[in-house]
Amino acid sequence: MDAGSREEHATKQDRGRVPQVEETRKRSGPRLEGRVALVTGAGRGIGRAIALRLAEDGAAVAVNDIAAHHAAAVREAIASAGGRAVDVPGDISMIEGCQSVTRAAAAALGPVDILVNNAGIEHRARVRDHRAEDWERVLRVNLQGPFLMAQAAADMLAASGRGAIVNIASAAIMGFFGQPAYDASKGGLLTLTRSLATELGREGVRVNAVCPGFIETDMVQGDPEIRQLGERQVRIQPLRRMGLPHEVANAVAWLASDEASYVTGASLFVDGGWSRR
Ligand SMILES: NC(=O)c1ccc[n+]([C@@H]2O[C@H](COP(=O)([O-])OP(=O)(O)OC[C@H]3O[C@@H](n4cnc5c(N)ncnc54)[C@H](O)[C@@H]3O)[C@@H](O)[C@H]2O)c1
Repeated sequence: MDAGSREEHATKQDRGRVPQVEETRKRSGPRLEGRVALVTGAGRGIGRAIALRLAEDGAAVAVNDIAAHHAAAVREAIASAGGRAVDVPGDISMIEGCQSVTRAAAAALGPVDILVNNAGIEHRARVRDHRAEDWERVLRVNLQGPFLMAQAAADMLAASGRGAIVNIASAAIMGFFGQPAYDASKGGLLTLTRSLATELGREGVRVNAVCPGFIETDMVQGDPEIRQLGERQVRIQPLRRMGLPHEVANAVAWLASDEASYVTGASLFVDGGWSRR
């Protein structure tokens, strides 16, 4: 078989197995047009930037946050920029919240194609002082929430034919001083990403994680101890500055799009090189 016919043969085989690959190659225009995205914790910070970016790329966006007024403000920002959005406030740390948020998103915009598990909380406490209730609270929001959201959206994502989940983990999976619950929750989220990718990949759903380094948001700026940690960290990492929310959103938009059609189970570090120093 010469090179030309080998290529043709391979293309035919690919077409048989993964019909959307050829379609993907031909797509043009806003890359998420026709898609519905649901972003948790999108009322501010990184989640807000992700919601705005996915809307800019053409997706209709369901904006979740436990702070209802913040979710409504982001919905308005998207609408005034010409995008389509709905706010779906609710607490994603509990099963009822996950189910009602997912149902509300689908009822308003149609079945969900893209789920971004961004909502997260930080808690600083040393091992000996760490209260069990704080450990549980952090794990419920940062790890149980993404699992329950994936469970609630799984059927819709599978039916989409282009379903994608992006989990926002953290470069803190390396293990930081004084935040064991947070670090463990994000480490667990990376493993959950791989489990979901393995199981849901058979149904055409891709599942990836983004691990931000220090990003200038209220989570970092609002806590003097975390801010100091961040300032110390950026002095020794290759890119000597904190990241900005839209720099994380760029990575999420790519992973959610067909441009990443053969990427699943991956962890993309958006951390100024911190984890590679
Ligand atoms: N900022 C950073 O440096 C950094 C670094 C690595 C990872 N992250 C991760 O990125 C994500 C966003 O971080 P951020 O800095 O924008 O934080 P943030 O605190 O500014 O925003 C988090 C948002 O999540 C919402 N939220 C919290 N609990 C919720 C719940 N139970 N249900 C629904 N919404 C809830 C909050 O109301 C808030 O609007 C988090 O998962 C965080 O762990 C942030």
